[in-house]
Amino acid sequence: MAVVSFAMLASLPFVPSPPSPPKTLTLTTRRSLISWATALVSSSSSSLLPSSAASPPLPPRAAGFFEIPASGGVKALDLRVGAGETPVDGDQVAIHYYGRLAAKQGWRFDSTYDHKDEIGDPVPFLFIVGSGKVISGIQAAVKSMKVGGICRVIIPPSQGYQNTSQEPVPPNFFDRQRLFTTIFNPTRLSNGEGSTLGTLIFDIELVSIRHP
Ligand SMILES: *[C@@H]1O[C@H](CO)[C@@H](O)[C@H](O)[C@H]1NC(C)=O
Repeated sequence: MAVVSFAMLASLPFVPSPPSPPKTLTLTTRRSLISWATALVSSSSSSLLPSSAASPPLPPRAAGFFEIPASGGVKALDLRVGAGETPVDGDQVAIHYYGRLAAKQGWRFDSTYDHKDEIGDPVPFLFIVGSGKVISGIQAAVKSMKVGGICRVIIPPSQGYQNTSQEPVPPNFFDRQRLFTTIFNPTRLSNGEGSTLGTLIFDIELVSIRHP
């Protein structure tokens, strides 16, 4: 398995989201969103480089990765510091994410930016913080963020998928299967790769919070 350094992880490209669409989309806005989405979909999955139509990559704000306190070893890098509220247990949050698997050279197994509604807008992932349905690493990440922020987190296996019923999972069956057969590969686990197989890299954008 390739050894992935933090320097490499910090330099992985991020394709920023388009500006939040207004309630009533003008035709122009809708068109530009669709062309953004098309550009994103057609961009090579290995490089993930944004096309010239997309916004330029966001510069990192923090000097480097830091460990989120009491997170069980989740490391975070701010790609954009938010200015809004920070969620607490019980809040419903909406996030966008890029999920990558370190064990597959950073294979991007899922992204909410690819989950589209009828008019082509990316649909965020919703969950209740502290509900336990979502992997611990993502919960720790959002509780360390402010709305509007984008954070890259390195999630160790102990804070990642413990079984196949945790969320978020790719909607595509084959992606789910590849994800879980990698993480829970019995041969590789018995070869002592358990400390690395399930390491996840998530770019998380905290879109909004709704209080109960
Ligand atoms: C999956 O793992 C989570 C976290 O350890 C746990 O809360 C949940 O009960 C498990 N679900 C199943 C079906 O084993």
